[in-house]
Amino acid sequence: MNITYYGHACFSVQVGGKQLLFDPFVTPNPLAKSVKSKEIPADYILVSHGHDDHIADAVKIAKRTEATVIANFEVAEWLTKKGVTQVRAVNPGGIVDCDFGRVQSVNAIHSSSMPNGAYGGHPAGFVIESKEGNFYYSGDTALTYDMKLIGEATKLKFAILCIGGNFTMGVDDAVRAAEFVKCDEIIGVHYDTFPQITINHANALEKFKAAGRHLQLLKIGETRNL
Ligand code: NI
Ligand code: MN
Repeated sequence: MNITYYGHACFSVQVGGKQLLFDPFVTPNPLAKSVKSKEIPADYILVSHGHDDHIADAVKIAKRTEATVIANFEVAEWLTKKGVTQVRAVNPGGIVDCDFGRVQSVNAIHSSSMPNGAYGGHPAGFVIESKEGNFYYSGDTALTYDMKLIGEATKLKFAILCIGGNFTMGVDDAVRAAEFVKCDEIIGVHYDTFPQITINHANALEKFKAAGRHLQLLKIGETRNL
């Protein structure tokens, strides 16, 4: 599976010939100036919660690509009101069967409000299962014992975890999250975009290494095969 990093917590994974785009936030991100939001492909857009740093480009990309957007009930309602037609609402625990495999919404411990301040429903992470392998995206979350449920039920090829701290778990808790979900191959997201979430890369890489796991920090715009 190819993963492309668009900065912050925005990335896409190619699964079964489909582009799954997560948490589109490109235009307002000063670090992602090299990325052209207008050119990002998407067959599915998965939105973890309503915060602007996860949804800023969702409406435009959804309308252009006619991708199906998967998000919690309140985020789905908000997108529908903005004119997005292909929307699938799913709350934590729910599973959406797709042509590439399936998506399960799982718990995340965070907050969620829409850019206009409206209630944004319960924040989520996603577990994606496919013939090519399975992966987990934590969304914005604290470390939670619920992650053990994922490790018990699903063999993961890789996990995409927030590591920036302050608004989410930081590196130390992300190392424990990797242990909880029983995954050795980790992609870090949600770091360096804002002053509060700036991290020491070498330190983060070393901490995962010391725990016997492999952290990858992709350059913005970079694609890697996992
Ligand atoms: Ni958030
Ligand atoms: Mn965030």
